[in-house]
Amino acid sequence: MSVIEEQAPGKLYIAGEYAVIEPGNTAILVAVDRFLRVRLTASEEVGSLTSSQYGRLPVRWRRSGDHKLVLEREENPFDYVLSAIAVTEQYAREQGRELAFYHLDIDSQLDDSSGRKYGLGSSGAVTVATIKALARFYALALSPLMLFKLAALAQVDIQPNGSCGDLAASAYGGWIAYTCFDREWARRERATHTVTDMLSRDWPHLDVRRLSAPSDLHLVIGWTGAPASTPALVAMVQARKSDSATHYDDFLSNAKRCMKAMVAAFEAGDTKCIQAEIRVYRRLLHSLGKSADTRIETPELDLLCAEAEHYGGAAKTSGAGGGDCGIAIFNADNDVSALLDAWTRNGILPLSLKVHNEKRHAA
Ligand code: PMV
Ligand code: MG
Repeated sequence: MSVIEEQAPGKLYIAGEYAVIEPGNTAILVAVDRFLRVRLTASEEVGSLTSSQYGRLPVRWRRSGDHKLVLEREENPFDYVLSAIAVTEQYAREQGRELAFYHLDIDSQLDDSSGRKYGLGSSGAVTVATIKALARFYALALSPLMLFKLAALAQVDIQPNGSCGDLAASAYGGWIAYTCFDREWARRERATHTVTDMLSRDWPHLDVRRLSAPSDLHLVIGWTGAPASTPALVAMVQARKSDSATHYDDFLSNAKRCMKAMVAAFEAGDTKCIQAEIRVYRRLLHSLGKSADTRIETPELDLLCAEAEHYGGAAKTSGAGGGDCGIAIFNADNDVSALLDAWTRNGILPLSLKVHNEKRHAA
């Protein structure tokens, strides 16, 4: 056994954010060609974890209710690595493999050495890439769905408030429609079932469907330069949903309708209709942000969207918002160079990312 190298792509949310946290709701995501790579070298008696980037990432903290410092989960990527190892090794043991030692070295294009995060989902990608490397090390064959389920079990153990949509995008690649499973169910069942059982069972509500983008669809991505904490934003919206229960229920039912129409538009190859639904979802996020008193669309993201709309695109925040990226959907016939100039003049960095398609076969 020499060296194993695996990678997982970063992701962007196209639509469905926040609603997808609730089981049975759907989001559309895309995997992009920036990667997190894991290199595994077999060793003896001692293993190690290293990362050129993580060593220099700032460790951010906030205060909990009793004023204690709490490290931000997202800023502690080794948690994800350890959890991915724990789940995969449990599965390896169940499959009769002997556990061994190894060095893991992580190299991420999703965080840069100054600690900047583009919001492309580094915690999801490090989870998926670690599982892929270990699966090869222990000779475990994984389909994309099994890879997703292992990653989701690892994430459920440490980050209870995420939808795991990022994991589905990293595990499948390309464009996907992801419908969130019931995390409470998964947590409960995991306690009394083997990982092998969990992989073979149907998970309530879970659905991952590959989509293909219409050939005339052009995805344009802008980065605000402001990092945002997804767990903190999600926690704020979740904490306030019972204060404005009617608004939240309205949001969920409107989101469901919009996402159903958007998935149908992808299947019909109708870019105009996709654009119309992107605009609908942006408005839904506006009203969610307002009723939860949470700044999802910051002034920078508002400007990013307004400029894209001005040049004929349909734009919205991507993911939890509060910073990070915005996306714009154009028709391939539109010339976007004037938009890119306008963004750059206004402090928005165009990211030249391409859609990443995984090879479409089981590993
Ligand atoms: O900010 P991002 O790209 O990590 O996306 C978060 C999307 C949410 O729906 C708000 C949270 C989630 O886990 O689905
Ligand atoms: Mg984000």
